[in-house]
Amino acid sequence: MANEDQAGDKRLCVLKFGSSVLGTEADYPAVALEIYRHVRDGEKVVAVVSALAGQTDSLLDQAERVGGAAPDGLVARLARVGELHSAALMALALSKVGVRACTMDPDEMGLVAEGDPLDSNLVALDSAAVWAKLDAHEVVVVPGFTAQHAEHGVVTLGRGGTDLSAVFFAARLDAHRVRLIKDVDGVYAEDPAKNPNAERFSQMSYAEATEASSGLIQPKAIRAAEAEDVLIEVAALGSAEATTIAHLPAVRSCPPKPERLRVALLGCGAVGAGVLTYLHSRPDLFEVNPVLVRRPAKYGEPGRYTAQLTEALAGKPDLVVELLGGADHPAELMLAALHDGAQVVTANKAAVAKHYDSLHACAEAGGGAIRYSAAVGGGAPILETLARLEGDVVAVEGVMNGTCNYLLSRLAEGWTFDDAVRQAQELGYAEADPAADVDSHDAADKLSVLIREAFGVALLPDRIAKESLRDVTPEAAQAALARGEVLKQVGRCRLLEDGSIAAEVRVVALPAAHPLAGARNEENRFLVTDTSGKVHEVFGKGAGRWPTATAVFADVMDAQRALLGRVAQAATPTQAAPLKLLA
Ligand code: NDP
Ligand code: HSE
Repeated sequence: MANEDQAGDKRLCVLKFGSSVLGTEADYPAVALEIYRHVRDGEKVVAVVSALAGQTDSLLDQAERVGGAAPDGLVARLARVGELHSAALMALALSKVGVRACTMDPDEMGLVAEGDPLDSNLVALDSAAVWAKLDAHEVVVVPGFTAQHAEHGVVTLGRGGTDLSAVFFAARLDAHRVRLIKDVDGVYAEDPAKNPNAERFSQMSYAEATEASSGLIQPKAIRAAEAEDVLIEVAALGSAEATTIAHLPAVRSCPPKPERLRVALLGCGAVGAGVLTYLHSRPDLFEVNPVLVRRPAKYGEPGRYTAQLTEALAGKPDLVVELLGGADHPAELMLAALHDGAQVVTANKAAVAKHYDSLHACAEAGGGAIRYSAAVGGGAPILETLARLEGDVVAVEGVMNGTCNYLLSRLAEGWTFDDAVRQAQELGYAEADPAADVDSHDAADKLSVLIREAFGVALLPDRIAKESLRDVTPEAAQAALARGEVLKQVGRCRLLEDGSIAAEVRVVALPAAHPLAGARNEENRFLVTDTSGKVHEVFGKGAGRWPTATAVFADVMDAQRALLGRVAQAATPTQAAPLKLLA
């Protein structure tokens, strides 16, 4: 059962990634992005991973070459190594995009199986140990396919055993769902690679799934799900649609074919270059116009970059991604795109804070939408948290500028101010003019956006009291440490009884045990107090290419799903029909 105290207000989702999506090392970023999508939707995640494609076979071959007809218990020792390796890589990939993740091995979570050492069945899990880790991390990555065994020490769970692991974790942790991520977006009545008009099940029973999903889902896992009443979803990376397997009658229809969206990317610097990598990783979904930059020659690859706005915006793009910096000029570009009904994604807090009303009004009038998750918190999903709390907020405080937090961390180590600023620039954390960070304008922009989202009140950044970091010396930062305190730039806002807002950005000395004091380097941390007095913590990396690009691209994928959803509304499910095997 879920431990209510530890789970807090977050639901748990078990995600399983098999070797159809973990083909090579290059696939971990896409999987990290998928996990991040669930984290920012407010879920805790147990990510169950398989070995990279082909690795288990190659380990079994190796076991045979070296050991001959060795006992199964010894073979299992080697066969499971691929999953342990994969779980470690997955946690590393999550760390890169700023998600708090850890891994647990079977012995650390009391995961026990019984039976044949190469085809065991799971029987026990120390769920309290897993919840304890989930309390301090958004994601716990676990190796599928393997467990402890009383007689053999460690064993494996048979072909496709990671499906069984995922179902078992969902049942024992009381997850609200388990989602098996495959290279197809659900269970089809026929192989969609052979018949482009194949129908996909939106839902089906366990018995029907056993028959229809041969080779796609381990039958043992489906039986375990039925016995434990676990709802299984089968989906592809990034897809909105899934096949739900539960005690449900079959419903199937021909899914709409996603058209490739035309994307205009404006800016290809620290953040834009990361977003471009993500866009290029989904050529099935996105066609990217020449990217707008100031000096195309600097970027090489003629034709891919342009300084001409008309070329960047050619062909009436469906999606405009603004990553230029500045406030008024990018706002003008976004307003024009929204006026034309485009979906707009930006990380630009200066533009959003200053032009909030006009951007939103234009999105509504034009029928498009503006998304800006990365503008506040970078990869820390603070705006999504506020949206979920739906106005039920009385105060927000946080470390919301990665550069300033990085500077204060370095000053406490004795670095000079100028060296620390230079390093923050090199790491891609600082604004084009780092004075925006150092003089707290950036934090004020973010606070202004937070106030809009939390309280629906307009408080422009220049009306927010702020304090510069310029007077902070290494000596002051080190003296604070000696007193058991940590210097932090903190932005705060609070709803007052008369409906007005008190807001400020200050450099403060926090006790080392304060939840904001632990923010390291470019990390951001927010504490949101709701009307019941409960404090919600939101942590993540607040600056830098990958955390920011991941948040931007998550918005891009939301926009893609929103556009696809409009197409999907036209598709009507047909009645339940006899099932054919998926080839
Ligand atoms: P960079 O300065 O690294 O990149 C800016 C890019 O935009 C460059 O490719 C630049 O081209 C291009 N550009 C700027 N102005 C123009 C213009 N007038 N015409 C054509 N091209 C232009 O910025 P970042 O990637 O760091 O930041 C982009 C946005 O994301 C900003 O709004 C920032 O506040 C926000 N952000 C940044 C984060 C970070 O960690 N860096 C985190 C969260 C948000 P060229 O190189 O040729 O000059
Ligand atoms: N310069 C900003 C920071 C980028 O350091 O926080 C992220 O918004």
